[in-house]
Amino acid sequence: MAPKQRLLTGLQSSGTLHIGNYFGALKPFADMHKEYESHLMVADYHALTTMRDPELLRENIRNTVKDYIATGVDPEKVILFKQSDVLQHTELAWIFECLVTVPFLMQAHAYKDKVAKGLEANAGLFNYPMLMAADILLYDAEVVPVGEDQRQHIEYAREAANKFNNTFGTTFATPQERILEAVGIVPGTDGQKMSKSYKNTIPLFGTKDEITKSVMSIVTDSSGDRPENVYQIHKLFRSESELETLYNENAGNYKALKEALVEDIENVIAPMREKRNTITDEDVANILARGGIQARERAEEKMIEVRKKIGVTL
Ligand code: ADP
Ligand code: TRP
Repeated sequence: MAPKQRLLTGLQSSGTLHIGNYFGALKPFADMHKEYESHLMVADYHALTTMRDPELLRENIRNTVKDYIATGVDPEKVILFKQSDVLQHTELAWIFECLVTVPFLMQAHAYKDKVAKGLEANAGLFNYPMLMAADILLYDAEVVPVGEDQRQHIEYAREAANKFNNTFGTTFATPQERILEAVGIVPGTDGQKMSKSYKNTIPLFGTKDEITKSVMSIVTDSSGDRPENVYQIHKLFRSESELETLYNENAGNYKALKEALVEDIENVIAPMREKRNTITDEDVANILARGGIQARERAEEKMIEVRKKIGVTL
């Protein structure tokens, strides 16, 4: 059997998850992780570019791990670790920063957007793409599943690999992004993209009451028999042929259709919610401790080679 390809992705907690996050990011990852030699990293040092509340950061780290396990990631089948536990990431980032130019980093969207808004970017945000390049290249990751917004960062990682390889000899594999677009964009209760910034979400781990409240608030227009905004969310949970029957039988009865949607969402979410409630902080600590050991071993092996090549090992 051919060896599995190496995969790595990084997670930044985005607060309370919604079903758009689930279908756009967590489920595709849960579905694919066993086919690869997978590395799943909590990007806590990336989070530090914006976070200043230590208690909240701790909370976010734990929640991120719980969210992924509850939605189907098997901690026995991935190296699940946090960035700050593997010092080689910041070490390699520094080396890349010494190889790339300031104008090159000034092209990064995250930095440009900040400056365009008239805000002052911290140096961490400016260097963000090189820390991300280190995350990926340390493990020779070939496959990097990310959302469309992260595409440019993978280009930066390829560029960092090329710069290093051209200067010091071939050391790093060049990674490829795998853009997760299996379901396209999940619409929110107002028909726009579901996003925490638009307050149009259906919470992923919400109670049945919370889900009911969100579903009942889905905006429907009374021009047709089929409430399009309800249907577009519903088809994530049931096949279109089943929905055909349901929507024909209840044509015009928006309330019944919304109630059916609540039940279908609840059937998918309830087991994940229950699983999430069983994962303790101690479980998270144990999983991260084990993952940290495995990740450090791999990262250090790579850094021994890197330090020799750049000339700091005597
Ligand atoms: P939000 O838009 O709520 O701020 P994030 O930007 O934090 O969400 O997204 C986290 C992940 O979830 C990304 O990989 C993103 O592609 C995915 N995602 C977010 N919203 C949706 C959506 N409405 N449909 C599909 N995927 C989504
Ligand atoms: N920047 C990514 C995000 O905001 C998270 C991330 C950090 C990442 N390091 C990574 C993703 C390495 C893929 C690979 O979503």
